Amino acid sequence: MNTTEERDKTGKIIVIGGAGYIGSVLVRKLLMQNYKVKVLDYLLYDNFSSIAALSENPDFTFIQGDFTDDGTIKTALDNTSSVILLAALVGDPISKKYPEIAVKINEYGPIKLINHIKNLKIDKFIFLSTCSNYGLRTDDTPADENSGLNPQSIYAKNKVAVENFILANKDEFNFCPVILRCATAYGISERMRFDLTISEFTRELALGNELLVYDENTWRPYCHISDISDAIIKALETPGDKIRGKVYNVGSNEENYTKKMIVDKILKFIPDGKVKYREGGFDPRNYRVSFGKILKELDFKPKFRIENSIVDLITAFKNGRYRDFEMRKNFYGNYELIIDK
Ligand SMILES: NC(=O)c1ccc[n+]([C@@H]2O[C@H](COP(=O)([O-])OP(=O)(O)OC[C@H]3O[C@@H](n4cnc5c(N)ncnc54)[C@H](O)[C@@H]3O)[C@@H](O)[C@H]2O)c1
Repeated sequence: MNTTEERDKTGKIIVIGGAGYIGSVLVRKLLMQNYKVKVLDYLLYDNFSSIAALSENPDFTFIQGDFTDDGTIKTALDNTSSVILLAALVGDPISKKYPEIAVKINEYGPIKLINHIKNLKIDKFIFLSTCSNYGLRTDDTPADENSGLNPQSIYAKNKVAVENFILANKDEFNFCPVILRCATAYGISERMRFDLTISEFTRELALGNELLVYDENTWRPYCHISDISDAIIKALETPGDKIRGKVYNVGSNEENYTKKMIVDKILKFIPDGKVKYREGGFDPRNYRVSFGKILKELDFKPKFRIENSIVDLITAFKNGRYRDFEMRKNFYGNYELIIDK
């Protein structure tokens, strides 16, 4: 699918979980590039406002529903050319808080969905996985796609289970599966998440609060949501025979940071910010990641750096953009679920 003309002949791209933090950015990019887009989202965080403005676009359709429900997914997949699965209970804390719901949405749901689309005429299935799967590295070397996985949380274990299912069965699929292991995301979205490191640290310091940081020397890679969206579109547009059944880390070699390195970057803009460091936090993850494969094979290189996002967030706070945070906390992060959904 390379030209607008070709795209118009196909069915729609369905973005499951498209009203979330990454989805709200991805969907806008797809529409800008003349794709016809359907979003299926359960709106677990009262997050309709993230995509409400798109409803007047004739190329956009929204369906509210649960992708793990057989009837919902059957209807939603009608006239669909490719499937992008973003929907999940995202992050270690919320998955730990609701372990039964997490395994249903993050493991059983995706496997059921894949078994369902086996019988349809789907071109690509893009599965959003996470670099958290590398978990705790036992040495200092950056993990590549062939490195052993060492998931530390129920969230990452569920993601690894789906990856394993895809990789074990890929030769039987009549569609092209692709697995994208994304770095921790940052950047401003219509559905913000202040439970992620860059936005959480910047928020605390911009508001003048004392920031408490556990295990400041632990490493992790980061990637802007605009760049993650570009990587997804790259996977969508790359010929299937080139990427069928492949795994790609999504991010940049230059954006592996310790928590302390992130704090120091924020303090350049907020020099009087107060920070306290402590050892012995509950998150054991410590991993650096290599992004050489996606650069070499798909010519993908992120455009943004974390400084861009830090400056944007500080400006947003100065201008009162998130002054309703306490009133709409559920919208601004994956803190808790509205259980009766
Ligand atoms: N944000 C990150 O740092 C990050 C890093 C690596 C990978 N990822 C992956 O990217 C994807 C998107 O992450 P995000 O940060 O945008 O998360 P998010 O929580 O902001 O968005 C997830 C969306 O999925 C929806 N959803 C959840 N369960 C659903 C269900 N059963 N049916 C329909 N919709 C459902 C939610 O309502 C929400 O809108 C996830 O698969 C995540 O694992 C995210």
